[in-house]
Formats: sequence, structure tokens, C-alpha cells
Amino acid sequence: MSTKTVLTGITTTGTPHLGNYVGAIKPAIAASHAEDVRSYYFLADYHALIKCHDPEVVQRSTLEIAATWLALGLDTDRSTFYRQSDIPEITELTWLLTCHTAKGLMNRAHAYKAAVQDNVEAGEDPDFAITMGLFCYPVLMAADILMFNAHDVPVGRDQVQHLEMTRDIAQRFNHHFGEHFVIPSAVVDEHVAVLPGHDGRKMSKSYDNTIPLWLPEKKLRKSIMKIVTNSLEPGEPKETEGSALFAIYAAFAGEQQRAEMRQAFADGIAWGEAKQQTFELINGELADARERYEALIANPDRIEEALQKGARKAREYATPFIARLRDAIGIRALGGAGPG
Ligand code: TRP
Repeated sequence: MSTKTVLTGITTTGTPHLGNYVGAIKPAIAASHAEDVRSYYFLADYHALIKCHDPEVVQRSTLEIAATWLALGLDTDRSTFYRQSDIPEITELTWLLTCHTAKGLMNRAHAYKAAVQDNVEAGEDPDFAITMGLFCYPVLMAADILMFNAHDVPVGRDQVQHLEMTRDIAQRFNHHFGEHFVIPSAVVDEHVAVLPGHDGRKMSKSYDNTIPLWLPEKKLRKSIMKIVTNSLEPGEPKETEGSALFAIYAAFAGEQQRAEMRQAFADGIAWGEAKQQTFELINGELADARERYEALIANPDRIEEALQKGARKAREYATPFIARLRDAIGIRALGGAGPG
């Protein structure tokens, strides 16, 4: 049996928060230690350009997110950890795929449709502030995935549509040019994929409800204390269903701890106490990594070195594969000098 390939990317915008950690980074890092997989993890900095036009912020986000993955113990020998923009083959593949992607398919992308909808509601032109980068986002993402023939792509639920589009694009290409691409699958962890933020909505920078991953201990505690609850008093039974606090606790808890907290809710645990336990659980998981993170941020050359190592490894696969794809579509040397 051939080895399975797992690949995931994280867009380098903003400071990583607990939602990113639970939904993407943690499961990816756990998978990076598995014996029987080939794993690719990358910083999607070209995707970041779609939202972020400030060069300093682009660079800083890349630094913070790279440091995050390294601090949390990503195995960069076993897996391939790289920056998207260091792999020119990905942008080249993006164009090849763009030429085989129906515009109608892109019209249906949730992120694009939401942007149009917002414009319409605001009485703006439907295209207001929508770049071709936003519109073509799913093609770049398809190239990320297909470049390495990934089988499994761990993502949040909001990315499932992008995986469907990737499959669509890959199938169409294979149909025309032969079986070049593996058809990938989205892997969504049912328990933890969507973490709520302070206000109970999905934890997201756009809702301004995030708990940053690397807050110093005191600030982390303060931030957890801000999670919305209700006015039930200590001793009154509390629902776990719909409780943001319980969902956040559960995302960090083992099965046993989860069951105990469920019982504590039924027994009427005070909100302050439940929050304290949540803080202790999360802080316990992050404390050592936080120290490694601080050390890495203070020493960016070490991070750059790790990324360059990853880029070399990634290109060992990408360079011959893009040559094969170019040949398949007819971008070839003229005369007899083609690649064998
Ligand atoms: N779009 C993804 C997100 O916002 C990030 C991403 C870019 C990605 N390319 C990818 C994820 C390829 C998985 C595979 O979360």
C-alpha cells in the first residue's frame, strides 16, 4: 500500500487564536508524528495577500504563524513545512488550473458570494472592493493541494466547499489529460472543528471575539473570564448545549474530563469556577510551548532556516511534477529536446 499524503495550509493573517489551534494546527501536528503518512504543512502567504495589503503585517503574520507551528512541536524532519510563496510551481499550477476552471464554479464560492451580498446590502456596486484574488482564491487553494497529490486535507467546516471545488477541478483536468491528480478529501474533525469565541459565535478575527493563542498567562485568564455565560447562580443546573464555555473546555479536554465537566454543569457549577478550570486546562496545555514560541520570535533566522529546508523538500516533489503537467498540456520544448 502506498503512503497516504496529508496536507493543510494556514492563511498568514493576524495572530493565531485558539480556534486556529484547535481546528487546524493541533490535529495537523498530531498527524505529523504518524508513521504511515507523508505530511505537508504550509503558510499560505499568497492567500494572505487577498486580505492584507500591509507589507509589515504580511511579514509579521508569517513569522508568528511559523513560530507557532514550530513551538507546538511540528516534526519538520518527518513532515514538509514550507511557505507557499517559496514554491513557484504552485503559482504556475494555479494558472494551468485557472484555464480549466469554470467561472460559474467560482461564482458559487461562499466567500465571494458573501462579499457580493454585503455590497448589495450596503447599496454598493456588487463588485465593490472585490479583487480577482478573492474571486480566484479557490483555484490557488486547489493548486496548493493538487501540487502534492494530497489524499486528506484537514480543514475547518468553512473550507469544505473549497475542497469540493478542488475535486471538481482535479477531475476535469484528469479527464482531459490523464490521471495526474489524486482526488483529495476534506477531513473535518466533528468534535472540535468550530470553536466559539467570547460571544458564542464562531471564533473568528472578523467577529473580534478571539482568544489569542499566545497571551501571557494573566491575560489568557482574563480573556477566558470574558466568555459569555448567563445569569444562572451557583447551584443552579446549567446546559452544556449552546454554552460557549463548555464548547471551549471540551475542545481541550479528554473524554473523561469532558464527562466530568458535563456532570459539573448538571450539578450547578458556578460560572467563575468553570472558567477557572477552563483557564487551567488551556494554560496547562500551552505553557511550555509558549516559552518555545517566545524564544523563536526572538530568533527569526532559525525560523527562516526551517522554512528553507521545507521549501527544498517540497520542490523535490513539485519540480518534476510540474514538468510532467506542462508536458501533458502541451507546454513543451520544440523539436526533439523535450523531457524524455
Ligand atoms: N483557505 C484555508 C483557510 O482559510 C487555508 C488554505 C490555503 C488551505 N490553501 C490551503 C487549507 C490548502 C488546506 C489546503 O483556512
